[in-house]
Amino acid sequence: MFSMTTIMLVSNGSGLFPTEAYEEETMHEHNRFNILRVDSSVRREQSITRKLGDEVVQRLMRDHPEARLTLRDLADPVDFIDADWVAANLTDPAERDESQHLALAESDRLVAELDAADAIVLTTPVYNFSVPAALKAWIDMICRARLSFHYTAKGPQGMLRDRPAYLVMASGGMPFGSPVDFVSGYLRHIFAFIGIQDVRMVQAERTGGGVTASERAARAMIDAWLPRAAVATTARYPAQEIAS
Ligand SMILES: Cc1cc2nc3c(=O)[nH]c(=O)nc-3n(C[C@H](O)[C@H](O)[C@H](O)COP(=O)(O)O)c2cc1C
Repeated sequence: MFSMTTIMLVSNGSGLFPTEAYEEETMHEHNRFNILRVDSSVRREQSITRKLGDEVVQRLMRDHPEARLTLRDLADPVDFIDADWVAANLTDPAERDESQHLALAESDRLVAELDAADAIVLTTPVYNFSVPAALKAWIDMICRARLSFHYTAKGPQGMLRDRPAYLVMASGGMPFGSPVDFVSGYLRHIFAFIGIQDVRMVQAERTGGGVTASERAARAMIDAWLPRAAVATTARYPAQEIAS
């Protein structure tokens, strides 16, 4: 299964609106700021991570009104890697046969999509002390030896250029930074592993104990990374309206 939506939003000063420039499977355009948004909550409605992700994207679009926004919604999951995938990846690219190119095609696309981004907004709930399985499947697809990282005498080295990655996360009860927070450190490590060091955390914790308070705390983190505009705009960008 493989689906991607690229959609362009424009700001008219009072909000963000999709334009007719809706394209399926459009790849990187040079000279345009590219935002990749990856969502992983299974909930398309009432998701706190998606709501906070909307706010981060709105602020990025405010700062880059001509940006191209690519949506990767893992509620439509990517494939799991399998034995054919591993074998193909271990084969020298020049030696791969057609079936091996096919086995890696989705992963190639996902790495290219990530590499084309000038800013990444990744949203994730905590599921059972870790990330949703769909996000782990995406991570397995984008961590590619000789494509997104490689081994050197000094150990593994990331191959993607650094860029801001906003990691938006929410937990029902787990305090972020606690000994059982296996999400923040893991995601920070994965991004650094492929070369992306500029990780910016937005965390709504203990949403079960009071959504408003935890959202307020997360919003303060968004403010710290992307300060509010002097003139407030009316945000109008619910992700579920335009998700593929
Ligand atoms: C299957 C599942 C597992 C969860 N596991 C945890 C957990 O281990 N720790 C925790 O603090 N919250 C856990 N939660 C709560 C979610 O992290 C929390 O409700 C979060 O806000 C969900 O994100 P969303 O609102 O974007 O869907 C879990 C929720 C679900 C649905």
